[in-house]
Amino acid sequence: MSMTSAQLIEDLGGVQSEALDELQGLTSEESLEEWRVKFLGRRGRLTTVLRTLGSLPPEDRRAAGQEANRTKTLLEEELGAARRRVREGRFALLAEQEQIDVTRPGRPATVGRYHPLTQIIREMCDAFVSMGFQVIEGPEVEWDHYNFEMLNIPSDHPARDMFNTLWIDHKDAEGRQSMLLRTHTSPMQARTMEKTDPPVRVVVPGKVYRYEATDATHEWHFHQIEGLAVDKGITMAHLKGTLYEFARRVFGPERKVRFRCDYFPFVEPGVDMSIDCFVCEGQGSVNGSPCTVCREAGWIEILGAGMVHPKVLSDVGYDPAIYTGFAFGIGPDRVAMLKYGIEDIRLFYSNDLRFLGQF
Ligand code: DAH
Repeated sequence: MSMTSAQLIEDLGGVQSEALDELQGLTSEESLEEWRVKFLGRRGRLTTVLRTLGSLPPEDRRAAGQEANRTKTLLEEELGAARRRVREGRFALLAEQEQIDVTRPGRPATVGRYHPLTQIIREMCDAFVSMGFQVIEGPEVEWDHYNFEMLNIPSDHPARDMFNTLWIDHKDAEGRQSMLLRTHTSPMQARTMEKTDPPVRVVVPGKVYRYEATDATHEWHFHQIEGLAVDKGITMAHLKGTLYEFARRVFGPERKVRFRCDYFPFVEPGVDMSIDCFVCEGQGSVNGSPCTVCREAGWIEILGAGMVHPKVLSDVGYDPAIYTGFAFGIGPDRVAMLKYGIEDIRLFYSNDLRFLGQF
């Protein structure tokens, strides 16, 4: 059977007026969807009429096609308008029922921030990164081998008493405790050198553990940042220059530093470094009253350091006759306490937003 364009246009008109009539009475989103399927869907009324376009004589198709498109656009626009109407109606109803006051200010969005320790650790690492150090991390569950042996602390060494160790319930073939929670970040010295040929320049931030009773200045877990630089011709002057620059970046360009002898089995010579107190400017008192930050000393000890012990170098296969290096270990918890005047280290680990929100 062949169609004429007049017939087709008439069919379109029929579909259009029927569709618009039905649309009038619809008030829910579900009924609008049913309407769309019925008239505009793939097997809908309009589509069915459009399918017959192909059977028109070619000279009639243009006019009929235009009319068909117009109808389709019109129905789509009307559907859009009806959807908006239904949605607005629903909001109005909601507002009426639940008494939503649309003029009320919204709830403020709370913006998160980094933990104060994360902030200070990043700040410190950035200072070293700008001097060419790489930031790496290491395991918190560690072998006795790396935590002690490779750091020139054999099992009978009295220096083990410096580290109250939390042992993991695990024994080696000889029945000895061999696994622990690392007591410092220093085991990453040997781990790094075993994997890399010199030159080495790394800083290692991370968590460490000690079997200790907690009080305002002691926690059984805290943080350290380890540093290690090994190359040909590294001297104590490099150690001092690097740590001096670090102190000035983190604590201010006027800072002075002081090195004193100290003992750590994995360095020789070993030192500790202090900065002049940034609160009393090294005076020991502020406006006549004793400085509480440096306890009147004028100096604050912030890290241990030294020249890497030849034994530590040779144990990882570096030739100490060719390579030398320096190492250091900083306690960021203590530094943050001093810098921000925090009196109790446990505040860092108690997740109190009133405290954390201040940084
Ligand atoms: N690991 C030491 C501690 O926890 C700190 C330390 C001292 C690290 C001297 C070093 C160093 O790398 O050279 O007490």
